[in-house]
Amino acid sequence: MSKYFNWKNGTNQTELEEIAKILQNDGIVVFPTETVYGIGGNALSENAIKNIYKAKGRELDNPLIVHIAEKEMIKDLVQDINEIEQKIIDKFMPGPITLILPKKEIVPDIVTANLDTVGIRMPINEVARKIIEQTKLPIAAPSANISGKPSGTNIDDIREELEGRVDAFIDIGNCEIGVESTVVKVIGNTPTILRPGKITKEDLEKTIGVVNLSKKIFEKVKIGEKVESPGMKYKHYAPNTKCILVCGTDEEQIEKINKMIEKDNNICVLGFKEHKEKINTEQYIEIGSKNNFSEISKNIFTLLRKADNYKASLILIEGIEKNGLGLAIMNRLIRTCEYNII
Ligand code: TXA
Ligand code: MG
Repeated sequence: MSKYFNWKNGTNQTELEEIAKILQNDGIVVFPTETVYGIGGNALSENAIKNIYKAKGRELDNPLIVHIAEKEMIKDLVQDINEIEQKIIDKFMPGPITLILPKKEIVPDIVTANLDTVGIRMPINEVARKIIEQTKLPIAAPSANISGKPSGTNIDDIREELEGRVDAFIDIGNCEIGVESTVVKVIGNTPTILRPGKITKEDLEKTIGVVNLSKKIFEKVKIGEKVESPGMKYKHYAPNTKCILVCGTDEEQIEKINKMIEKDNNICVLGFKEHKEKINTEQYIEIGSKNNFSEISKNIFTLLRKADNYKASLILIEGIEKNGLGLAIMNRLIRTCEYNII
Protein backbone atom coordinates (compact mmCIF):
# COMPACT_ATOMS: atom_id res chain seq x y z
CA MET A 1 0.00 0.00 0.00
CA SER A 2 1.19 3.48 -0.78
CA LYS A 3 0.57 6.24 1.78
CA TYR A 4 -1.68 9.11 0.79
CA PHE A 5 -1.23 12.71 1.97
CA ASN A 6 -3.93 15.25 1.27
CA TRP A 7 -2.26 18.66 1.06
CA LYS A 8 -4.96 20.40 -0.91
CA ASN A 9 -5.32 22.90 1.91
CA GLY A 10 -1.61 23.37 2.52
CA THR A 11 1.41 21.42 3.69
CA ASN A 12 1.67 19.78 7.08
CA GLN A 13 5.05 19.95 8.85
CA THR A 14 4.83 16.52 10.53
CA GLU A 15 3.90 14.88 7.25
CA LEU A 16 6.57 16.88 5.42
CA GLU A 17 9.14 15.40 7.77
CA GLU A 18 7.71 11.94 7.16
CA ILE A 19 8.05 12.44 3.39
CA ALA A 20 11.63 13.66 3.80
CA LYS A 21 12.47 10.52 5.78
CA ILE A 22 11.00 8.30 3.08
CA LEU A 23 13.11 10.07 0.45
CA GLN A 24 16.27 10.00 2.58
CA ASN A 25 15.86 6.22 2.89
CA ASP A 26 15.66 5.55 -0.87
CA GLY A 27 11.86 5.56 -0.93
CA ILE A 28 9.96 7.16 -3.80
CA VAL A 29 7.15 9.69 -3.61
CA VAL A 30 4.67 11.09 -6.12
CA PHE A 31 4.76 14.87 -5.62
CA PRO A 32 3.30 17.85 -7.47
CA THR A 33 5.04 20.42 -9.63
CA GLU A 34 3.48 23.23 -11.66
CA THR A 35 3.77 21.15 -14.84
CA VAL A 36 2.87 17.54 -14.01
CA TYR A 37 3.29 15.31 -10.96
CA GLY A 38 6.66 13.56 -10.63
CA ILE A 39 7.87 10.29 -9.07
CA GLY A 40 10.67 11.63 -6.89
CA GLY A 41 13.66 9.92 -5.33
CA ASN A 42 17.10 10.88 -4.01
CA ALA A 43 19.10 11.83 -7.12
CA LEU A 44 22.35 10.86 -5.40
CA SER A 45 21.27 7.31 -4.54
CA GLU A 46 21.47 4.52 -7.10
CA ASN A 47 18.97 2.47 -5.15
CA ALA A 48 16.38 5.22 -5.09
CA ILE A 49 16.81 5.76 -8.82
CA LYS A 50 16.45 2.05 -9.53
CA ASN A 51 13.18 2.16 -7.57
CA ILE A 52 11.91 4.97 -9.80
CA TYR A 53 12.75 3.17 -13.06
CA LYS A 54 11.09 0.04 -11.74
CA ALA A 55 7.91 1.78 -10.55
CA LYS A 56 7.53 3.49 -13.89
CA GLY A 57 8.60 0.57 -16.05
CA ARG A 58 10.97 2.96 -17.78
CA GLU A 59 13.80 1.99 -20.13
CA LEU A 60 17.17 2.46 -18.41
CA ASP A 61 18.54 4.46 -21.34
CA ASN A 62 16.04 7.30 -20.81
CA PRO A 63 17.55 9.73 -18.27
CA LEU A 64 15.77 11.44 -15.38
CA ILE A 65 15.85 15.15 -14.62
CA VAL A 66 17.05 16.44 -11.27
CA HIS A 67 14.97 18.89 -9.25
CA ILE A 68 16.46 21.50 -6.96
CA ALA A 69 15.02 24.14 -4.62
CA GLU A 70 17.83 26.72 -4.68
CA LYS A 71 20.19 27.85 -7.41
CA GLU A 72 23.03 27.21 -4.96
CA MET A 73 22.47 23.47 -5.51
CA ILE A 74 23.37 23.70 -9.22
CA LYS A 75 27.11 24.07 -8.74
CA ASP A 76 27.28 20.83 -6.78
CA LEU A 77 25.73 18.90 -9.65
CA VAL A 78 27.16 20.42 -12.83
CA GLN A 79 30.45 21.57 -14.30
CA ASP A 80 31.10 24.95 -15.92
CA ILE A 81 28.08 26.96 -16.94
CA ASN A 82 28.48 29.21 -19.97
CA GLU A 83 27.06 32.70 -20.36
CA ILE A 84 23.92 31.67 -22.22
CA GLU A 85 23.16 28.90 -19.74
CA GLN A 86 23.64 31.34 -16.87
CA LYS A 87 21.16 33.74 -18.47
CA ILE A 88 18.59 30.97 -18.77
CA ILE A 89 19.08 30.11 -15.10
CA ASP A 90 18.85 33.77 -14.03
CA LYS A 91 15.78 34.56 -16.05
CA PHE A 92 13.69 31.36 -16.11
CA MET A 93 14.42 29.49 -12.89
CA PRO A 94 12.41 28.75 -10.85
CA GLY A 95 9.91 27.83 -13.54
CA PRO A 96 8.73 25.16 -15.98
CA ILE A 97 12.08 24.66 -17.70
CA THR A 98 14.78 21.98 -17.66
CA LEU A 99 18.30 22.90 -18.67
CA ILE A 100 20.68 20.17 -19.84
CA LEU A 101 24.17 20.78 -18.43
CA PRO A 102 27.49 18.87 -18.19
CA LYS A 103 27.24 16.75 -15.06
CA LYS A 104 29.65 16.29 -12.18
CA GLU A 105 30.65 12.83 -11.03
CA ILE A 106 28.47 13.04 -7.92
CA VAL A 107 25.41 12.49 -10.15
CA PRO A 108 25.14 8.70 -10.57
CA ASP A 109 25.31 7.43 -14.16
CA ILE A 110 21.99 5.68 -13.73
CA VAL A 111 20.25 9.07 -13.33
CA THR A 112 21.56 10.30 -16.65
CA ALA A 113 21.50 6.94 -18.44
CA ASN A 114 25.31 7.20 -18.84
CA LEU A 115 25.14 10.57 -20.59
CA ASP A 116 27.69 13.14 -19.49
CA THR A 117 24.93 15.72 -19.08
CA VAL A 118 22.14 16.12 -16.54
CA GLY A 119 18.80 17.91 -16.81
CA ILE A 120 18.35 20.48 -14.02
CA ARG A 121 14.93 21.79 -13.09
CA MET A 122 13.92 24.19 -10.32
CA PRO A 123 10.14 24.02 -9.93
CA ILE A 124 8.21 27.07 -8.83
CA ASN A 125 5.54 25.01 -7.08
CA GLU A 126 5.70 25.63 -3.31
CA VAL A 127 5.06 22.03 -2.29
CA ALA A 128 7.78 20.70 -4.60
CA ARG A 129 10.22 23.23 -3.19
CA LYS A 130 9.34 22.50 0.43
CA ILE A 131 9.90 18.78 -0.10
CA ILE A 132 13.31 19.36 -1.66
CA GLU A 133 14.27 21.84 1.07
CA GLN A 134 13.13 19.54 3.86
CA THR A 135 14.95 16.57 2.32
CA LYS A 136 18.11 18.60 1.67
CA LEU A 137 18.70 16.49 -1.42
CA PRO A 138 18.42 16.94 -5.17
CA ILE A 139 15.36 14.96 -6.26
CA ALA A 140 15.33 13.01 -9.52
CA ALA A 141 11.84 12.74 -10.96
CA PRO A 142 10.24 11.65 -14.20
CA SER A 143 6.56 12.35 -14.83
CA ALA A 144 4.20 10.29 -12.66
CA ASN A 145 2.85 7.68 -15.06
CA ILE A 146 3.67 4.22 -16.34
CA SER A 147 6.15 4.62 -19.17
CA GLY A 148 4.39 5.37 -22.47
CA LYS A 149 1.12 6.52 -20.87
CA PRO A 150 -0.12 10.12 -20.57
CA SER A 151 1.62 12.07 -17.79
CA GLY A 152 -0.21 12.32 -14.47
CA THR A 153 -1.71 15.71 -13.64
CA ASN A 154 -4.06 14.68 -10.82
CA ILE A 155 -3.66 12.10 -8.08
CA ASP A 156 -6.80 10.07 -8.85
CA ASP A 157 -5.45 9.19 -12.30
CA ILE A 158 -1.98 8.56 -10.92
CA ARG A 159 -3.17 6.27 -8.12
CA GLU A 160 -4.97 4.10 -10.64
CA GLU A 161 -1.64 3.45 -12.31
CA LEU A 162 0.90 3.62 -9.52
CA GLU A 163 -0.89 2.44 -6.34
CA GLY A 164 1.45 0.03 -4.54
CA ARG A 165 4.37 0.96 -6.80
CA VAL A 166 5.47 4.03 -4.83
CA ASP A 167 5.78 4.75 -1.11
CA ALA A 168 3.54 7.81 -0.99
CA PHE A 169 1.30 10.16 -2.94
CA ILE A 170 1.03 13.86 -2.17
CA ASP A 171 -2.20 15.36 -3.42
CA ILE A 172 -2.61 19.10 -4.09
CA GLY A 173 -5.24 18.80 -6.83
CA ASN A 174 -4.69 19.52 -10.51
CA CYS A 175 -1.37 20.77 -11.85
CA GLU A 176 -1.56 24.33 -13.17
CA ILE A 177 0.18 23.93 -16.51
CA GLY A 178 -0.52 20.32 -17.38
CA VAL A 179 2.30 19.66 -19.85
CA GLU A 180 5.90 18.96 -18.88
CA SER A 181 8.71 21.50 -18.72
CA THR A 182 10.48 22.96 -21.73
CA VAL A 183 13.75 21.03 -22.15
CA VAL A 184 16.63 23.18 -23.41
CA LYS A 185 20.22 22.37 -24.25
CA VAL A 186 22.81 24.85 -25.46
CA ILE A 187 24.40 23.10 -28.46
CA GLY A 188 27.47 24.87 -29.84
CA ASN A 189 26.42 28.35 -28.89
CA THR A 190 22.78 27.97 -29.76
CA PRO A 191 20.13 27.12 -27.24
CA THR A 192 18.00 24.31 -28.64
CA ILE A 193 14.57 23.27 -27.45
CA LEU A 194 14.48 19.48 -27.21
CA ARG A 195 10.94 19.40 -25.78
CA PRO A 196 8.59 22.40 -26.05
CA GLY A 197 6.63 23.55 -23.01
CA LYS A 198 5.01 26.52 -21.33
CA ILE A 199 8.19 28.60 -21.72
CA THR A 200 8.19 29.09 -25.46
CA LYS A 201 10.83 29.74 -28.12
CA GLU A 202 9.63 33.36 -28.21
CA ASP A 203 9.94 33.72 -24.41
CA LEU A 204 13.51 32.42 -24.55
CA GLU A 205 14.46 34.54 -27.56
CA LYS A 206 13.53 37.74 -25.74
CA THR A 207 16.32 37.02 -23.26
CA ILE A 208 18.95 35.03 -25.10
CA GLY A 209 18.63 35.69 -28.84
CA VAL A 210 18.12 33.04 -31.50
CA VAL A 211 16.81 29.70 -30.27
CA ASN A 212 16.57 26.50 -32.35
CA LEU A 213 13.78 23.98 -32.21
CA SER A 214 14.92 20.38 -32.50
CA LYS A 215 13.63 18.83 -35.73
CA LYS A 216 12.55 15.82 -33.74
CA ILE A 217 9.76 17.77 -32.04
CA PHE A 218 7.42 16.66 -34.83
CA GLU A 219 9.39 13.96 -36.62
CA LYS A 220 9.35 10.31 -35.81
CA VAL A 221 12.75 9.00 -34.75
CA LYS A 222 14.00 6.18 -36.96
CA ILE A 223 15.18 2.93 -35.41
CA GLY A 224 18.83 3.27 -34.40
CA GLU A 225 18.92 7.03 -35.08
CA LYS A 226 20.98 9.11 -32.64
CA VAL A 227 18.96 11.74 -30.78
CA GLU A 228 19.78 14.65 -28.47
CA SER A 229 17.20 13.51 -25.94
CA PRO A 230 16.55 9.79 -25.43
CA GLY A 231 12.92 10.48 -24.52
CA MET A 232 12.29 11.36 -28.18
CA LYS A 233 12.66 7.71 -29.18
CA TYR A 234 9.91 6.24 -27.11
CA LYS A 235 6.21 5.78 -27.39
CA HIS A 236 4.61 8.49 -25.25
CA TYR A 237 1.41 9.92 -23.85
CA ALA A 238 -0.65 7.14 -25.43
CA PRO A 239 -3.91 5.75 -24.03
CA ASN A 240 -4.78 2.11 -24.83
CA THR A 241 -7.28 3.12 -27.49
CA LYS A 242 -5.85 4.06 -30.88
CA CYS A 243 -5.82 7.85 -31.45
CA ILE A 244 -5.78 9.97 -34.61
CA LEU A 245 -5.02 13.69 -34.77
CA VAL A 246 -7.38 15.66 -37.01
CA CYS A 247 -5.91 18.80 -38.58
CA GLY A 248 -7.21 21.53 -40.90
CA THR A 249 -9.52 24.52 -40.77
CA ASP A 250 -12.45 24.36 -38.34
CA GLU A 251 -14.80 23.25 -41.11
CA GLU A 252 -12.34 20.64 -42.38
CA GLN A 253 -11.81 19.18 -38.93
CA ILE A 254 -15.55 18.95 -38.30
CA GLU A 255 -16.17 17.37 -41.69
CA LYS A 256 -13.38 14.82 -41.36
CA ILE A 257 -14.64 13.78 -37.93
CA ASN A 258 -18.29 13.52 -38.99
CA LYS A 259 -17.32 11.40 -42.00
CA MET A 260 -15.47 8.96 -39.77
CA ILE A 261 -18.37 8.84 -37.30
CA GLU A 262 -20.77 7.99 -40.16
CA LYS A 263 -18.79 4.82 -40.80
CA ASP A 264 -18.20 3.88 -37.17
CA ASN A 265 -20.55 4.80 -34.35
CA ASN A 266 -18.14 3.91 -31.57
CA ILE A 267 -15.67 6.73 -32.06
CA CYS A 268 -14.83 9.03 -29.15
CA VAL A 269 -14.00 12.66 -29.97
CA LEU A 270 -11.78 15.04 -28.03
CA GLY A 271 -12.83 18.34 -29.52
CA PHE A 272 -13.29 22.03 -28.92
CA LYS A 273 -16.14 23.41 -26.86
CA GLU A 274 -17.22 25.38 -29.95
CA HIS A 275 -17.55 22.25 -32.11
CA LYS A 276 -19.66 20.15 -29.77
CA GLU A 277 -22.96 20.93 -31.47
CA LYS A 278 -21.54 20.37 -34.94
CA ILE A 279 -20.07 16.94 -34.35
CA ASN A 280 -22.54 14.06 -34.43
CA THR A 281 -21.67 11.95 -31.45
CA GLU A 282 -22.63 11.47 -27.83
CA GLN A 283 -19.08 10.36 -27.06
CA TYR A 284 -17.76 13.93 -27.12
CA ILE A 285 -15.25 15.27 -24.61
CA GLU A 286 -14.57 19.01 -24.63
CA ILE A 287 -10.85 19.76 -24.47
CA GLY A 288 -11.56 23.48 -23.95
CA SER A 289 -12.04 26.55 -26.07
CA LYS A 290 -10.29 26.51 -29.42
CA ASN A 291 -7.91 29.36 -28.67
CA ASN A 292 -7.51 28.84 -24.97
CA PHE A 293 -4.27 26.87 -24.98
CA SER A 294 -3.78 27.13 -21.20
CA GLU A 295 -7.15 25.46 -20.65
CA ILE A 296 -6.34 22.73 -23.18
CA SER A 297 -2.87 22.04 -21.76
CA LYS A 298 -4.15 21.92 -18.19
CA ASN A 299 -6.69 19.21 -18.97
CA ILE A 300 -5.30 17.29 -21.90
CA PHE A 301 -3.70 14.34 -20.10
CA THR A 302 -6.67 13.83 -17.78
CA LEU A 303 -9.04 13.92 -20.75
CA LEU A 304 -6.99 11.41 -22.72
CA ARG A 305 -7.43 8.99 -19.84
CA LYS A 306 -11.13 9.79 -19.67
CA ALA A 307 -11.47 9.12 -23.42
CA ASP A 308 -9.78 5.77 -22.94
CA ASN A 309 -12.53 4.79 -20.48
CA TYR A 310 -15.14 4.93 -23.25
CA LYS A 311 -13.52 1.81 -24.70
CA ALA A 312 -14.20 3.30 -28.10
CA SER A 313 -12.85 1.81 -31.32
CA LEU A 314 -10.93 5.02 -31.96
CA ILE A 315 -10.27 8.42 -30.38
CA LEU A 316 -10.22 11.40 -32.74
CA ILE A 317 -8.47 14.50 -31.38
CA GLU A 318 -8.84 18.00 -32.82
CA GLY A 319 -5.48 19.63 -33.61
CA ILE A 320 -4.59 23.22 -32.71
CA GLU A 321 -2.19 25.89 -34.03
CA LYS A 322 1.45 25.12 -33.34
CA ASN A 323 2.26 28.47 -31.79
CA GLY A 324 3.04 29.48 -28.22
CA LEU A 325 1.88 26.78 -25.81
CA GLY A 326 0.10 25.18 -28.79
CA LEU A 327 3.46 23.86 -29.97
CA ALA A 328 3.94 21.91 -26.73
CA ILE A 329 0.40 20.54 -26.84
CA MET A 330 0.76 19.41 -30.46
CA ASN A 331 4.16 17.86 -29.72
CA ARG A 332 2.46 15.67 -27.09
CA LEU A 333 -0.63 14.90 -29.22
CA ILE A 334 1.40 13.81 -32.23
CA ARG A 335 3.03 11.21 -30.01
CA THR A 336 -0.30 10.28 -28.42
CA CYS A 337 -1.47 9.52 -31.96
CA GLU A 338 1.77 7.75 -32.86
CA TYR A 339 2.12 10.14 -35.83
CA ASN A 340 -1.30 9.24 -37.28
CA ILE A 341 -2.63 12.50 -38.66
CA ILE A 342 -5.50 13.14 -41.05
O1 TXA B 1 7.90 19.04 -16.11
C1 TXA B 1 8.71 18.10 -16.10
O2 TXA B 1 9.79 18.15 -16.70
C2 TXA B 1 8.32 16.86 -15.28
C3 TXA B 1 8.22 17.26 -13.81
C4 TXA B 1 7.98 16.07 -12.89
O3 TXA B 1 9.35 17.97 -13.44
N1 TXA B 1 9.27 15.80 -15.49
C5 TXA B 1 9.35 15.10 -16.66
O4 TXA B 1 10.29 14.08 -16.65
O5 TXA B 1 8.66 15.34 -17.61
P1 TXA B 1 10.35 12.94 -17.77
O6 TXA B 1 11.39 12.00 -17.29
O7 TXA B 1 9.01 12.39 -17.98
O8 TXA B 1 10.89 13.69 -19.03
C6 TXA B 1 12.23 14.17 -19.07
C7 TXA B 1 12.70 14.27 -20.49
C8 TXA B 1 12.85 12.92 -21.15
O9 TXA B 1 12.36 13.01 -22.47
C9 TXA B 1 14.36 12.68 -21.14
O10 TXA B 1 14.78 11.89 -22.22
C10 TXA B 1 14.89 14.09 -21.23
O11 TXA B 1 13.98 14.90 -20.50
N2 TXA B 1 16.22 14.20 -20.61
C11 TXA B 1 16.54 13.99 -19.31
N3 TXA B 1 17.86 14.13 -19.11
C12 TXA B 1 18.40 14.44 -20.30
C13 TXA B 1 19.73 14.70 -20.77
N4 TXA B 1 20.77 14.67 -19.94
N5 TXA B 1 19.90 14.99 -22.09
C14 TXA B 1 18.85 15.04 -22.93
N6 TXA B 1 17.57 14.80 -22.55
C15 TXA B 1 17.35 14.50 -21.26
MG1 MG C 1 7.41 11.55 -19.00
